[in-house]
Parts: sequence; structure tokens; C-alpha cells
Amino acid sequence: MCGIVGYIGQRQAYDVLIKGLKRLEYRGYDSAGISLGGGNSRIYKCKGKVSDLEDQLAGQDVSGRIGMGHTRWATHGEPTDNNAHPHKSMNGRFVIIHNGIIENYSKLKTGLEAEGYKFESETDTEVLANLIEYVYLKNQNNGDSVSPEDAIRLALNMVEGAYGLVIMCSDIPKTLIAARKGSPLVIGIGSGEYFIASDATPIIEYTNSVIYLNDDDIAIINTDGLNLTNLKNVKQKPNIKKIDLKLDEIEKNGFDHYMLKEIYEQPRAIRDTYRGRLNFESKFLRLGGLHNVFDEIKDAKRIMIIACGTSWHAGLVGEYLFEEFTRIPTEVEYASEFRYRKPVINKGDIVIAISQSGETADTLAAIQLAKKAGAIVLGICNVVGASIPRETVAGVYTHAGPEIGVASTKAFTAQVTVLTMMAMAIGYANKGLSADEFTSLVDELYAIPEKIEKILEKAGCVKEIAGKIKDSSNSLYLGRGYLFPVALEGALKLKEISYIHAEGYPAAEMKHGPIALIDEKMPVIVLATKDHSYDKIVSNIQEVKARKGLIIAIVTEGDTTIKEMADYVIEVPHSDFALAPLLTVVPLQLLSYYIAVMRGCNVDQPRNLAKSVTVE
Ligand code: G6P
Repeated sequence: MCGIVGYIGQRQAYDVLIKGLKRLEYRGYDSAGISLGGGNSRIYKCKGKVSDLEDQLAGQDVSGRIGMGHTRWATHGEPTDNNAHPHKSMNGRFVIIHNGIIENYSKLKTGLEAEGYKFESETDTEVLANLIEYVYLKNQNNGDSVSPEDAIRLALNMVEGAYGLVIMCSDIPKTLIAARKGSPLVIGIGSGEYFIASDATPIIEYTNSVIYLNDDDIAIINTDGLNLTNLKNVKQKPNIKKIDLKLDEIEKNGFDHYMLKEIYEQPRAIRDTYRGRLNFESKFLRLGGLHNVFDEIKDAKRIMIIACGTSWHAGLVGEYLFEEFTRIPTEVEYASEFRYRKPVINKGDIVIAISQSGETADTLAAIQLAKKAGAIVLGICNVVGASIPRETVAGVYTHAGPEIGVASTKAFTAQVTVLTMMAMAIGYANKGLSADEFTSLVDELYAIPEKIEKILEKAGCVKEIAGKIKDSSNSLYLGRGYLFPVALEGALKLKEISYIHAEGYPAAEMKHGPIALIDEKMPVIVLATKDHSYDKIVSNIQEVKARKGLIIAIVTEGDTTIKEMADYVIEVPHSDFALAPLLTVVPLQLLSYYIAVMRGCNVDQPRNLAKSVTVE
């Protein structure tokens, strides 16, 4: 949450910062701001999007070869001009931008107020700016020689919470200082120039050499070089990595929205996720990232899956897959709940953390708890080099490519693909699956991308249905078995981007409550592909019909029974029912997308949401 960019070098910083902020806007878009020139820094900021800031600055002098920018997801204080970052300390010495939360800000603020500090905003960030300045000036007044870097280090040692920070100080006008604890920061190394950002997307246009900062790192950067230390002022060795991210992967490439592009990318994303791991001809499956711990995994007594949001829904599909294919008891839990109760974790338990971004604060904290308790913690993550893959002992990357639309689509299907392969590999090894079952699943999984392409060809039909239900204010999504998590995901997609209230429910539970809501105004989206509970779901559809609900059914190609009962049907190709989530979720993604567009909603940047949730 919150996007950070910094630049120092020979280019006009403004151009790098604005472009970078636009790439990071998925992290929050409540306000935007930049600061240019290291000495007497000029600050420009406003409530709203980066484009609002750009409009405001048209025609103004924005020259300068050093600067930093911020796009905000509000935590402390409403989205206003005053609360927008950057924040300057009271005597103007320090300017800072921040991603994260300073948990003890209130206590620090009271202390600073007692020392005469005045505040212009309600943010925890301004408290930090003033704390650093206070430490700096107080030591100077006492005759101690404390550099701005020292003051930053001393102040950060007083802080509780999480931060990714970029700081400029008027006494060292040609220097940028970056510090990290809990919130991600990447430094790009060009020739005589440096870039700082919350992720690599603002950087790849200029260089592919990057350093991912570790917790407690402090980087002091000027055009002569970079000095990496930590909070204890111990020198750290920069670990320079090459990133393999292409510019066209983060562009819209002719689509109206990132979300639509990402929905259409799913066949490619799934193929890339199984490529090199699943061999269709030799029926061979190998997950290299699990190799070192595979024996422990296949003999595990228990698997726990932790995640948030859409990744949690993928985890629920994983529960069905693991229990069916491996017969290992599996539980799924919201990371935020897991970390705050006292979960029973035994040594040798397998904990799988799923996260698109690899930065979700609750998931990271849950991983740390599980590690401490002796679990073997694995990661399923989309962003290479993010915090979660670095915190876990082994794992499997989804190769979905950068996901920019705030509502997750291709990351979900790529996560389910990885979970399917994991369950297949373990099941085959521990005899939960027979050789024939395994072979058949290899063929089925291999065929999924082509089947999704067929579904996407029928997007026009989904759009028509969207037009019929776009004005509803409530909706119900029903599914059974593997399709229950898909019902939850479909409902989440609709509420996230179109602001229509939607509930996902196990179809059989409908009669214990939600059925009371059904009338002719209520669209009920039923996942009803052919599987062993088909007859039961047909009965559920009858129950909805008897109450005059508007039925939209996702059915297997050629189904005539449900066609006669439902108001609208969307057909998907036949598949093994364990793989049906990968197909049935696609029309639901399209349905939400079209409804949101028809309602004039900002599909890629829905209100109040952010893609990378680095606060609790
Ligand atoms: C946010 C995003 C969701 C995402 C969730 C978990 O709420 O808007 O799309 O599913 O965070 O994020 P993660 O990166 O851990 O998968």
C-alpha cells in the first residue's frame, strides 16, 4: 500500500517520478505528491490521482535531477492535500515519503509537541519527519557531531511499526536515503543514476540491475555511489540481482483496462505456470522449488494454507485438491486470523502461504509465526524476489506475469494451477492418486488453457447478461464442492469493482438463510457444471426458481436440463471436476468486469482498495 519512487542522476527527475507513480498507482490512489531538488526541496501534492497532480503542475518549473514521489492509500488521516506525502519537518530540514504504519506515532507525537513541534497533517509520516529532525537538531545543539544519516538511524530505532522510506535532507542536498522495515523497497542501479521504488515496475525501463532491500537496511545514495548499512550502522553487502521483466508486460497493449487484459492473459499465464514443470508427453511433473523438502511434504501429517483475499479463495480450492489427491488433512485460514489466535502448529506441519504480491503484511506475519513453531513454510507467489518468497524455505512461483488490475484474476487461476500441480505431485508420491488418475489429470490440466480460450470467445454472451443485471443492488453466488470457493471469488469480484452487494454461499446452505432474500429482483449466479453433485445443484436451482429468483447458470457445454430452468446460461467446456474452478471462474470475472464498466466504475482502481496490502 502506497507507492514510492525516488530518483537521482542526470535525467529530469520529474519525468521518472510521474511515470513511476503511474505504474505504482495500483498500490493506492488517494493522493499523489512529489518533491524535487534536494536542497530547498519543492513539494507539490494534492488529493486524487497522479493525473490530477500532473494537471496541477502543467506549465510549472519542475526541473531537478533529484526527487521523490508518492501515491497514497490513506491510513492515518483522510485523503486530503495536507495529508498527502511528501511531508516536510517543521524546520524544513527533512522531507520524507513513507509506505507502512508507525504504530507508536501517537506517543512520539505527544513527546514532540511537548518540545514545541507543530503538525500540519494527521499522518504518522509527519511525526517521523519531525522526530528525525528533532534528533538531528538536538544533537547538534548539544555539540555532538551527528550526521543526517545518523539522525535517521537513531530515530528509526525509536520507531515501532513498518516502513519503506525515502528521505531527503537540505544539509546533504545531493543525497537520497532509503530505509526499509516490513514494506518493500527496490533500488535500481543505472550508470551514474539510481532509482528507488516499491516494486521494480518503475525501474525496468532504465535498468535491470536491482537490489531488494532487507528489513533494517538503510541505503545512502548519491551520484558517486551507494552505501548500504543497517539500523546498527553495520555495513551490508549489496546483493545485486538481474530482473527479467519486460515493459510490454506492464502496459495495457490495446485493452481498455488492465483487468480485461489480465482475464485474457489466463491461457498464457497457466501455460507459463506449468511449462517446464509438467510434461504432457512423458506424463512427468516436477516442481523444482519443492525439491529440497519434498520428502517431508509427502509424509506430512497436516497441511495448513494461509492467505488473504482472492489468494485465500485459491487456498480453499487447494484444500479440496490436497484432501482428495493426497489424503493429507488440510485446513485453510485467513492469515489475519491465524496470526492472532494460538494456532496449534506441530513440528513438521506444512504451511503454504499464498500471495500474489508476496508483500501482504498479515500473510508475512503468519509465516513468521509458523516458522517459529517449527512448521515447514512454503510459498506460492507471483512476484519474484518479494518478501514472502524470501521468508519461506521453499515454494513455487506462479508465472502469471505482473498483475496490475486491483481485482485479481490471472493470479487466481495461476495459483490454482500451482496448487493442482502440488497436490498431484504429492498424491502421486504418497499413493493418494493411482498412476492412471495421475496421467488423466496431467492430460486434463494440459487442456485447460485451450478451454479457457473457448470461454473467452463467448465473452459477448456474458456481456449481454451483464447488461440485464447491471442495475441490481444485491446478488447471490452459489456453488458446491470445488465450485463453492469459485462462488466466493465471483461474489468478491462483483463487489470489489462494481460496488454491488454480493454473497457467495455453498448452494446447500442457501436454505439456512439467504433463501429469504430471493425475489424477482435478485440475480442468483449458480455454478452448475456436471459433477457428482449435479443433481443436488439442479434441486437448488429449482428452489430459487420457485421463489422467482433470476437464474444465471454456469453449465457444462451441451447441458439441456438447466437450460430449461435458468433465465440465462453460460457454457464452459467439460473438464475433470477438480479442475472446474479454472474454467468456471472466467465467466464470473468477465461478468463483474462488464457490469462495472456499464456502471461507469473505475475497474482497475476500485474505490478504497489497494493491490498490495502492506498494513495489517
Ligand atoms: C488485496 C487485493 C486482492 C488480493 C489480496 C491479497 O486485497 O486487492 O486482489 O487478493 O490483497 O493479496 P496477495 O498479494 O497476498 O495475494
